[in-house]
Amino acid sequence: MEAVKMAEEYKFETRCIHGNGGLVEGHPYGAVSVPIFQTATFAHPGIGRSTGYDYTRESNPTRHELESVMSTLEEADDSIACTSGMAAIGLCLELFEEGSHILCTEDLYGGTVRMFESIGEKRGVTFSYVDTSDIELVRKSIRKETKALYIETPSNPTMKVTDFAAMKEIADEYGLLIIADNTFLTPYFQKPLTLGADLVVHSGTKFLGGHNDVLAGFVCIKGKGLSEKLRYTYKTVGCCLPPFDSFLVLRGIKTLSVRLERQQENAKKIALWLKDRPEVKAVYYTGLPEHPGYEINQKQASGCGSMISFKVDSEKRARKLLESVKLISYAESLGGVESLITYPMLQTHGDVPVETRERLGITEDFLRMSVGIENAEDLIADLEQALAE
Ligand SMILES: Cc1ncc(COP(=O)(O)O)c(C=O)c1O
Repeated sequence: MEAVKMAEEYKFETRCIHGNGGLVEGHPYGAVSVPIFQTATFAHPGIGRSTGYDYTRESNPTRHELESVMSTLEEADDSIACTSGMAAIGLCLELFEEGSHILCTEDLYGGTVRMFESIGEKRGVTFSYVDTSDIELVRKSIRKETKALYIETPSNPTMKVTDFAAMKEIADEYGLLIIADNTFLTPYFQKPLTLGADLVVHSGTKFLGGHNDVLAGFVCIKGKGLSEKLRYTYKTVGCCLPPFDSFLVLRGIKTLSVRLERQQENAKKIALWLKDRPEVKAVYYTGLPEHPGYEINQKQASGCGSMISFKVDSEKRARKLLESVKLISYAESLGGVESLITYPMLQTHGDVPVETRERLGITEDFLRMSVGIENAEDLIADLEQALAE
């Protein structure tokens, strides 16, 4: 057989489909698409012998293929596919002992804050939330018990950009881990492990799956030590992505690059259109040159993605828009081919304390849109009719 081409030779778009190469060669009967190994267990060829797979909670060939594709995309040493983004974040939380402190981006996804404040705090881990785009503030907020920086960039939902290079400098100085939630940009636009992060988490439910039809999560890992610890917890708690769901995410990833290009192109058009509307008071999109994080995002990412937040001129207008959109769905989640619009105050950030929400500007007039791959003119027409009195 011809030697299998190695990943370094393939560009990102090719790796979305072929991973490191050799995937098809490894499938029974030369199946082009990965078979769904819908089995809980694997027979041993003899005592003390294994086919390489023993029990699906620990590993499964369909999931393994997905994990290997994720590792090549994020440039990780290992990737673990979990049942949801929250399960992946929960796995990372298990790395920290009682008494540890984690310094976080202040406008994290609300579910992450809920997990930290409930399960994390109960285990004796403490958290503080600061504007991680303010480097001096991050430095001042480090405590002697701080063990990690937990970053979302762009943040959710106010799109603040954190400078990875500056965070890496601080992390090296104080011996901290950097954990980055890369859900919004995906490795297509940003690769945190190459920018100094130790762990990347994803809600695979979003851009990676891409079709609003599956829940999934990932932890992508740098280093053998972290991989061993996380794999041990993974098989112990059992938050493993099922074979069929692994297949769906793999299928989604095949079109990641083309979807994201189109979504970004649509988002740019919509952000520019929103900016000129009299009913819109502010647009938060890292692709607009006036965005405060524009330069840093340009430096560390190859794109700005397709998440836009905006403020309208009243709560009444925000509520009316949500109830009037026809093509765009008023629904939680993001990243899929269908455009969605959410009301962060009530949905994604409903559990964030009111004072924090108000301080961050997540108010009753604040909306977040995930732009899909529909025709941009149709999306704009839908927004236009929904914004009208
Ligand atoms: C940035 C971010 N991280 C993590 C999650 C959690 O992911 P999941 O819903 O797959 O559990 C979400 C969900 O919306 C998210 O937006």
